[in-house]
Amino acid sequence: MIRTMKNCCIRYFSKGLCLLLAAALLVGCGQSGQTETKTLRVGVAVYLQTDTFIDAIVQDLERLVQAREAADGIKINLNIVDGRGSQITQTEQIDRLIALDYDVLCVNIVDRTSAAQIIDKAKEAEIPLIFFNREPVAEDLSRWEQVYYVGAKAEESGVIQGQILLDRWLNANPSMDKNGDGILQYVMLEGEPGHQDAMLRTEYAVQTLTGAGVSVERLAGDTANWDRSQAAARMSDWVNTLGDSIEAVISNNDDMALGAIDAYQSLDIPPEDMPVIVGVDATDPALKAVEEGLLYGTVLNDAQGIAENMLELALLLESGQDPAQSDLTLADGKYIWLPYRRVTLRELQAEQSPAG
Ligand code: BGC
Ligand code: CA
Repeated sequence: MIRTMKNCCIRYFSKGLCLLLAAALLVGCGQSGQTETKTLRVGVAVYLQTDTFIDAIVQDLERLVQAREAADGIKINLNIVDGRGSQITQTEQIDRLIALDYDVLCVNIVDRTSAAQIIDKAKEAEIPLIFFNREPVAEDLSRWEQVYYVGAKAEESGVIQGQILLDRWLNANPSMDKNGDGILQYVMLEGEPGHQDAMLRTEYAVQTLTGAGVSVERLAGDTANWDRSQAAARMSDWVNTLGDSIEAVISNNDDMALGAIDAYQSLDIPPEDMPVIVGVDATDPALKAVEEGLLYGTVLNDAQGIAENMLELALLLESGQDPAQSDLTLADGKYIWLPYRRVTLRELQAEQSPAG
C-alpha cells in the first residue's frame, strides 16, 4: 500500500504531503496486520448528463477512478447525479449529498447565478467544493477558501476558432469568399444564453477575424443551447432563407456544428457546396467529421484534463491538504486552467505521422 501510495506521490505530490495523504487514507491496522482502506466519497453533480462534452468528462472520471483504485489500493466512491437542466433538481441533489456527508463535491452548476447559495451550504457543512466547466463569477468563488474551479478559458477557445477561420480565409485556394465581395458572410450557432463559453466564444472568434483586418457580415445567429438537433433546425431555416450566401458557420461547440452538417446533408447539399464549418470541443464524432472533410476545424476542450485535475484536487482536499502546496497549478489559489488546442485535418495528420 505504502509503495503504491509512494508511486502516486512521486507523480503528484511532495514527499511530506504524500505521507500525510497515506496516513489519511489508511484507517487502522487490524490484529491480523491487514490494512483497511477508507472509502473517499465524491459527489459529482452535472447539469445535464446527455450533453456530449459533459458525458465525456464523466466517462473520463469513471475510468480514472478505476485506474487510481487499482494502482494505489484506495477506494473511491463516485456518486454522479444528473440535474437534467433544472437548478431546483440539482440543488436538491446537492442537499442530499451534503446530508449524506460526502467528502468532496464536484459541481457542474446548472445556473451559474446560483453558485452563492451552493457555496454557503457546502461551507456550513465544511465540505470542499470544486466547480467545473460552468464557471461561477469570481465574487461568488471568493465566499469561501475551500471553493475551486477547474475548466478552460472561454476567450482562448474563441481566439483559436477565429484563427482557424482566419487561416482558411487567407488561403485563396479554394476561396471561402463565394460571392467574391471580400467580406466573410457567416452565421453563428450559439450555446446556452448566459454560459461563459457561449458569450466569449462568440465575441472572440469574430474579434480575432476583425482584429486581423477581415471584414465580416453576420447574416444570422441564434442560440441552439449546445444541442445538435436544435442546431440542425436553426441551420435548415437559414439555408432555406439565405442559401448559398453563407460562407462560414461558426458554432460555439461541436454538437451544434454537427447539427449544421446534418441540416446540409438532409437538404442533399454535397460537402463541396457546404460553407466552412467550425466547432469547439474535439469530441469523437467531431474528429470523425474533420477526417471526413465535413467539419473544417474544432478546438480541443480538454475533458480528460478536467477530469484528471478534478480528481487530484478532490483527493488532496479530502486529505486536508493545501492544493497551493501541491504539484497542481493553481491560479489565484482557486483556478485550474486547462489549455485549448487547435484541431484541423492538418493537426490530425501530423499526429498520425509525427515525423512527416
Ligand atoms: C462545451 C459544450 C458543452 C458546455 C456545457 C462547453 O464548454 O464546449 O459542448 O455543452 O460546455 O456546459
Ligand atoms: Ca463574401
